[in-house]
Amino acid sequence: MSIHEQDPAVLAEVALTDLLAPASSANSFLMDVLTGMSQPQKQIPCKYLYDQRGSQLFDQICELDEYYLTRTEVSIMKKKAGEMATACGPGCMLVEFGSGSSVKTRYLLDELESPAAYVPIDISRDHLIDSACSIAESYPGLEVLPVCADFTQPIHLPDSMIEPQRRVAYFPGSTLGNFDPAFQKQFFQQTREMVGPSGGLLIGADLKKDRATLEAAYDDREGVTREFNYNLLRRINRELEADFDPQKFRYQATYQEEPGRVEMVLISREKQQVRIAEEFFDLEKGEAILTEHSYKFDRQSMQELGHQTGWELKAMWTDPQDLFGIYYLEAK
Ligand code: AVI
Repeated sequence: MSIHEQDPAVLAEVALTDLLAPASSANSFLMDVLTGMSQPQKQIPCKYLYDQRGSQLFDQICELDEYYLTRTEVSIMKKKAGEMATACGPGCMLVEFGSGSSVKTRYLLDELESPAAYVPIDISRDHLIDSACSIAESYPGLEVLPVCADFTQPIHLPDSMIEPQRRVAYFPGSTLGNFDPAFQKQFFQQTREMVGPSGGLLIGADLKKDRATLEAAYDDREGVTREFNYNLLRRINRELEADFDPQKFRYQATYQEEPGRVEMVLISREKQQVRIAEEFFDLEKGEAILTEHSYKFDRQSMQELGHQTGWELKAMWTDPQDLFGIYYLEAK
């Protein structure tokens, strides 16, 4: 349902806080790609995988047999949301990073005791407004305060009508794994600042496991993940006047046990030169462009990350096969 079809009472409850600076996004895309392609290990920031087509392909990835993450996280939410809500406590303000369509959140909202407010944060304004309206409609009486922002930047939370007993950040989806370790720490620290002294963090993150399962999850038989990567080259061609030929690259996903991450790369099939805007880049045969990495965690690594950044791990939930973990941390 679009915002235009909403009942005015619902609209009033989802007044948007807009923290996005829309200027210069095309320019920063170009700068990021040129900078990444100039590194000794050529790379392109993974956030650019998600244009409209990329987001559709990612939705398809989430449905694949091999990509167990989404359905496993949902299954844990279905079974354990009650315990998670108990950990969050009564009267909390739930703040969701990268809320998208807030599907997993509903399991939690169903269980939370008298939540003070729900603050979905997302960069995609239209999607944010639609899903905020839909949540407001499903949970009458819940104050919904959508914030349009890049959640990787520090965010000042809006005030709710009811003073929350605690602010809890919710970050499902294992997107933490797409950050590099330095930024994982920075993100934990800024989230700790955002929720304040008695705050909490409920976070979903994929678990370390055998290589075959992990590599299959990121290099599926149908080739959807490969297409997701080729789409990045097509996007760069279209938006940055580049001349990548996706056919001249093969896609590969490899699990590196140390440091515990899946690395996704496009490997040049031949020696070639690529133009991006006004600049030229030489690639050797076999040279890789890193498009994304996906770190994997376990109880110990999450505890350690929390320990270094002002959090104490209080609880962890997983599925019977130990594929995926959801953790609750409290500010120390
Ligand atoms: C968004 N993120 C958690 C996905 C992951 O599993 O790291 C991105 C992804 N890339 C390829 N497949 C999935």
